[in-house]
Amino acid sequence: MERFDRIWVNVQLATMVPGAPDRGEIRDGALAVRDGRIAWLGPRAQLPGEAVEIHDGAGGWILPGLIDCHTHLVFAGERCGEFEERLEGVPYAEIARRGGGIRRTVDGTRAASEEELHRLARARLHRLVDEGVTTVEIKSGYGLDIETELRMLRVARALGRDRDVSVATSFLGAHAFPAELDRAAYVDLVCGPMLDLVAEEGLADAVDAFCETIAFSPEETERVFQAAKAKGLPVKLHADQISDSGGAALAARYGALSCDHVEYTSEAGVRAMAAAGTVAVLLPGAFYLLRERQRPPVELLRRFAVPMAVATDANPGSSPLLSPLLAMNLACVLFGLTPYEALLGMTAHAARALGLAADRGTLEVGKRADFCLWRISRPAELCYWMGFGSGLLAERVVAGRPSAPAGPALA
Ligand code: NIG
Ligand code: FE
Repeated sequence: MERFDRIWVNVQLATMVPGAPDRGEIRDGALAVRDGRIAWLGPRAQLPGEAVEIHDGAGGWILPGLIDCHTHLVFAGERCGEFEERLEGVPYAEIARRGGGIRRTVDGTRAASEEELHRLARARLHRLVDEGVTTVEIKSGYGLDIETELRMLRVARALGRDRDVSVATSFLGAHAFPAELDRAAYVDLVCGPMLDLVAEEGLADAVDAFCETIAFSPEETERVFQAAKAKGLPVKLHADQISDSGGAALAARYGALSCDHVEYTSEAGVRAMAAAGTVAVLLPGAFYLLRERQRPPVELLRRFAVPMAVATDANPGSSPLLSPLLAMNLACVLFGLTPYEALLGMTAHAARALGLAADRGTLEVGKRADFCLWRISRPAELCYWMGFGSGLLAERVVAGRPSAPAGPALA
């Protein structure tokens, strides 16, 4: 008879293993953990061992902890004025050209101390955690100078130590051009001293860039990717959000973990992603808030079997969205994903977009025991409610340990 640390019984399981029969659903299941890992799962009647600690799931559903694989959680200030301007008719790209947009948040973020950035980001992180997020990706990109880019990444790393949520970081120095440098000088800075220091301090798990008419050209993006490669860091890309710049194909050539946004990605881009095993990260919050019309090519992504992830893109400009459940709802309603696809997009495929698929994102023996117990009658219910959020979450388990409720534990 095997000994486990903890066992959950009276539960339904949705393993979220892509391609599993019955969508990986196991009724009247049990799940056992040992040493922070999933040690056994299956039908309760076949449970091969015991534990001192038995959790009764009251018939709820256990799914892998949610993974928000694209956020910009660390920043100071808001850009509500631009939201108003856009609704008064000024386009997003026009606001950026006038020196608003990302640069406005850069001003606020440069002026903020590490402590302040930490406090602000932690409050936002609470909201994600309250809705079942156990791993979150956080980007830099609102510093655009050495000191502030490093400060943002240090804050992101500290958030990962703070409590029971894992943080993956991406260095996004190539997010916009700062006012004080010309383009070539800034690309040199990003690819040289900035990336050197980021790598030296071990502050980034990946390198990201914004390849767009209003941001970095394909040539500039390629320089950033070459520099990342030289440091042994994987790349990802904000690609084809408002025009087809060939970003997806470029990223695929560098074996990118993910291409994000991809609204304007062509069939050639989708084929390149499929060949490279690159994940398409869909960001319906930005599409919604910017009132975009061009949807990502979901049919093509399906046809070429490109895994689709879904993320909040939480940021002060294009997606002030702090609800992973609403992100899944938007992906279903606006992009036509099925609830099952959206759920894969915030579990298995999100893990893959972070290069973490071997360790998390599904319920499988040996994986990190990060999972949530939900008070729902079927998994699709997580994509159905709008604004119920944490009311659906019964228990959150991180590395095999039931996690304290967010608010008070963090005070
Ligand atoms: O993912 N596209 C570029 N970056 C962000 C927007 C950042 C901002 O507007 O502050 C995005 O949508
Ligand atoms: Fe983004």
